[in-house]
Amino acid sequence: MVAETNELLRRACKNTIVVPGFNIPYLPMLEPIVQALRDSDAFGLIMVARLEWMKFEAPSLEAVAEEYHRVKDERCTRLHLDHVPVIDEDNLRMEYLPVIRSAIAAGYQSVMIDGSRLPLADNIAATRQAVELTHAAGVAVEGELGAVMGHEDGPVPSYEEIFASGKGFTDPAEAQRFVRQTGVDWLSVAVGSIHGAISKTLKDKKKVEARLNIPHLQRISEVVNIPMVLHGGTGIGRRYILDAVQHGCVKINIGTALRQPFEKIRGTSVVKAQQVVYDTALSLLRDELNIIGSARIIKA
Ligand code: 13P
Repeated sequence: MVAETNELLRRACKNTIVVPGFNIPYLPMLEPIVQALRDSDAFGLIMVARLEWMKFEAPSLEAVAEEYHRVKDERCTRLHLDHVPVIDEDNLRMEYLPVIRSAIAAGYQSVMIDGSRLPLADNIAATRQAVELTHAAGVAVEGELGAVMGHEDGPVPSYEEIFASGKGFTDPAEAQRFVRQTGVDWLSVAVGSIHGAISKTLKDKKKVEARLNIPHLQRISEVVNIPMVLHGGTGIGRRYILDAVQHGCVKINIGTALRQPFEKIRGTSVVKAQQVVYDTALSLLRDELNIIGSARIIKA
């Protein structure tokens, strides 16, 4: 069975339209994001990752699903489970299949299995298991190959060092093998973006402006024929995003850009913080991603 969200992403890819995935580290952020998508008639995914219920205040994947189903607008939104790591950002191994089973039961329409901290063969094996489970339920799957850094607590090389060396970038030949042997629907690639930091000491800092190595992405897109995903969407220069979508990167994950303004104001007023989330999301959809009206095109 082809998952419906997968079909929508394929159409977005064909029309070179970006599909943002918005992270929900705090439940009150969900409604204004849906509202911004609805008001701009743009298509996007509402997402929560395990680290957001472990390290932030998303109560649980079930609670996010419940709030999503309360406010969703299916012309413009779908529900996605972001990062289910096999080895997490603190280097701990975790039981990923029960989390995926819970997400399917709660009505998630796509999930991400993140085996990117494993050697290639182990990543393939873990991702394959997740694909078998999710496809049987008609749910789409995203896998990751390469290292999109930033979530780790310890010291990481400087951004310039990562970008110049290409350390951790997705290898095109490995990507081809990964896609063929796992059967994933979407592939998250490392080509220059980094995650916004989440550690207590760094999470409020302004995120570095990331670039993308477009020729490297092009080499991957020549051998990978499924929609690709960029993590660490906050702060990627607009022209790189527009270039990336021309080369098959259709889903772009955005967390920090909405989390930081919400966190700054929520202590004063959650309602005001929700308004800031709405305004920021609207401006991202209109000015950065240029996708006003995309829901109509994707769903036509
Ligand atoms: P940013 O927080 O850098 O936008 O990244 C979000 C992300 O990639 C979640 O998977």
